[in-house]
Amino acid sequence: FSSVRALSPVDLGGAVPVDMGSKLLCLVLASIVLAYYVYSPIPEDSEEHWKVMLITATFKTFRNLYLGLMHYMDVVTLIGTMQYVAPMSDENVIVTDTEFNNVTVRLYLPRKASDGLRRAVVYFHGGGWCMKPYDLLARWTSNTLNAVVVSVNYRLAPKYRFPIQFEDVYSVTKFFLQSSVLSQYGVDPDRVCVAGDSAGGNLAAAVAQQLSEDPEVKTKLKVQALLYPALQVLDLNLPSYQENENDPILSRSLTVRFWSEYFTSDLSLREAMISNRHVPVESSHLFQFVNWSNLLPEEMKKDHIYISPTYGSSKLAQKYPGFLDLRAAPLLAGDAQLRKLPRTYILTCEHDVLRDDGVMYARRLQAAGIPVTHDHAKDAFHGAMAFISFPTELAVGRRLLNRYIEWLNENL
Ligand SMILES: *[C@@H]1O[C@H](CO)[C@@H](O)[C@H](O)[C@H]1NC(C)=O
Ligand SMILES: *[C@@H]1O[C@H](CO)[C@@H](O)[C@H](O)[C@H]1NC(C)=O
Repeated sequence: FSSVRALSPVDLGGAVPVDMGSKLLCLVLASIVLAYYVYSPIPEDSEEHWKVMLITATFKTFRNLYLGLMHYMDVVTLIGTMQYVAPMSDENVIVTDTEFNNVTVRLYLPRKASDGLRRAVVYFHGGGWCMKPYDLLARWTSNTLNAVVVSVNYRLAPKYRFPIQFEDVYSVTKFFLQSSVLSQYGVDPDRVCVAGDSAGGNLAAAVAQQLSEDPEVKTKLKVQALLYPALQVLDLNLPSYQENENDPILSRSLTVRFWSEYFTSDLSLREAMISNRHVPVESSHLFQFVNWSNLLPEEMKKDHIYISPTYGSSKLAQKYPGFLDLRAAPLLAGDAQLRKLPRTYILTCEHDVLRDDGVMYARRLQAAGIPVTHDHAKDAFHGAMAFISFPTELAVGRRLLNRYIEWLNENL
């Protein structure tokens, strides 16, 4: 219960006027309630300890309230529906919904004049393959970089399962990369990238791999940008999974839920994943690609001890081969395939079950000779970049966003 210490008035900003006394009392009482929820690790060195606590506590409260009442995936669908905003242009960016290859996309076209052809970002949003896209990141990217942004409204779980999500984003990207389409939007074919966060980072990594081997695609990606991506579902007991097991925003059990729902609602897969016994012995060779004992730097291994995999039933993998498929788990690609990838940006956060996925991919890409910029944010948590607007704006979210945009500006 160590966070209670952090809730003492000392942390509320030092000198507090006397007339604020009752407010302070309320705050302290509220804090005790909050502390009940927020016992899990919070970035100690976060600039905005308090805001982070409030946000994470809200997440936890919602999770606890709803989990008992509704099917979790219904809640997710509901949140997605509430979150939806109609396309709305502003003074900087023209925003419209359209379809590429029968998949809905939201287009962000800057109003600013451009000297020549523009850059373009094909963006895949996160949210466990089951939530609707959010608007702000794409809008901000388009305006700041004076770039065309295509945000893909891929079909969602649990109604649609793997590989539908992948196929949607892949066919949109392929459609957009046609020279006739690029020129229609005034895009420079030498300056197009894919990017995504979380489940969207997973899709971006998979799309970049697939494109590099697709003889039909003539336009090559300039870069890929992966923001706290999910990249494998082979080992769900990596050190980052263990350390952030009860993270309020993305716990281990929620992550397993997202992963298993990506493939099926069959409980037997979820249960096997929870106990990390879902990979059959026939696939044991794949563990070399997610072997954290070799692929993590010492400071992340800490005192974790590597345990060899425990294997599960072959039937499960035959029924749901998706979890061993590169299009769902890009970290399982061999080195020969990695060597074909473009320059890469990877963001990982310390307080994130998915941290080690990104760290290991960065390491493997570097070893394959790909130029990689790997930013590791020690004070950040999964999804931090979603917190960039009122009332949940966090300095840490802004900082990560600025860094990512700066990298795109220099490299795209
Ligand atoms: C798009 O969907 C419509 C109706 O479902 C279908 O008739 C059409 O062939 C599809 N077009 C493409 C390009 O897939
Ligand atoms: C993982 O790496 C460790 C250390 O190099 C090695 O002892 C172990 O056999 C490896 N396990 C697998 C499954 O590749």
